[in-house]
Amino acid sequence: MEPVVDPPPSVLLGSLRRQHETILLATGALRSFADRHASRAPEARKILGYFVLFFRQFLDQWHHGIEERLLFPAMVDAGVPESGPMGCMLREHDDGRLQLDAFAAMTSGVGPLSEREVLVLRELAGRYAQLLEHHVAVENQTVFPLARRVLLPEQLAALDASTDEVAAAWGQTGLDLQELGETLAGRFGVLPPLLGEEAARCPGA
Ligand SMILES: [Fe+2]
Ligand SMILES: [Fe+2]
Repeated sequence: MEPVVDPPPSVLLGSLRRQHETILLATGALRSFADRHASRAPEARKILGYFVLFFRQFLDQWHHGIEERLLFPAMVDAGVPESGPMGCMLREHDDGRLQLDAFAAMTSGVGPLSEREVLVLRELAGRYAQLLEHHVAVENQTVFPLARRVLLPEQLAALDASTDEVAAAWGQTGLDLQELGETLAGRFGVLPPLLGEEAARCPGA
């Protein structure tokens, strides 16, 4: 019987999983802020602006940027069909970016949020959180394990090297954004839902 050899650890996938944890904490904080704090916060628009900054830069530009420019293309090169789970993930990235525009529009108003704006914010935050929580669950449970299966050790190592370059390019900005997410989570957050509650929404996921 041949010995079972574990694949080498992947810095890239480990890093993406840790970023998911920060993203989920900030997502829970956004929902909690919308549900419990926004109607009473005189600076609700400013706080919402911090959430938008975090999700635009940490999530969309950094985290999704690594998935879109490094991980997913490598998986396609390794033979995973573009139309499979990664295609679904890319559509959800775009969907999330569009949803975030609606939050950004609310930050440009003046004064406290109106009752109607608070209701809209709750609706938006609930939908956005649902999207991200499902998205993270599918990546953690399906896409990342698939990457471990299809990518050769040397391909994973090459991705790790590229990840180091991306992290170096972000430098202090990335750390500041991570801290912003953790600060928002500490101020407004509640515990995120268990990741096991995955819905098979994506064909092939
Ligand atoms: Fe993603
Ligand atoms: Fe992700």
